[in-house]
Amino acid sequence: MSESDTFVSSQNETAIVQTVFPSMVNHYGTLFGGIALQWMDHAAWVCSTRHARKTMVTIASDKIVFKKPVPLGNMVELRARVVKTGNTSLTVEVKMFAENPLTGDRNLATQGEFVMVAVGEDGKPVQISSKS
Ligand SMILES: CC(C)(COP(=O)(O)OP(=O)(O)OC[C@H]1O[C@@H](n2cnc3c(N)ncnc32)[C@H](O)[C@@H]1OP(=O)(O)O)[C@@H](O)C(=O)NCCC(=O)NCCS
Repeated sequence: MSESDTFVSSQNETAIVQTVFPSMVNHYGTLFGGIALQWMDHAAWVCSTRHARKTMVTIASDKIVFKKPVPLGNMVELRARVVKTGNTSLTVEVKMFAENPLTGDRNLATQGEFVMVAVGEDGKPVQISSKS
């Protein structure tokens, strides 16, 4: 394994770390939900693309729960993993953990599922061959 390989998430799980900057918060000083969803959708896309090695698009999101607010300045870790493989679709569970950068305290802030569909050059669904 080369040195760079150690920084790549496994084929089944993807981790992405973000930081909550001032432009990303609502008028309560906590992370705007739309940005959380954007990050989660992106994590689901990276995870599903690595799994299938096809062009993936989001068809649905489900079971989104905003459990805890995320304060300005927190680090946020998104963990995405494939929980179901269909014919042309993958269901990816995404959990978003908030982390206080000074204390290291972590909380599950938001979670949800994203259904990603593999598409061909014509934009129509294609079969996913990887069952890993
Ligand atoms: C994704 C797209 C190509 C699918 O085309 P479609 O003709 O609707 O697809 P199908 O009905 O054949 O369904 C394809 C898969 O999605 C699943 N699916 C369809 N509707 C779904 C829904 N509402 N929720 C969950 N899964 C759904 C089907 O079960 C099927 O999965 P399977 O093959 O593993 O059983 C089309 O809907 C599309 O282009 N949507 C826009 C995508 C987009 O722009 N996303 C945002 C940017 S990435």
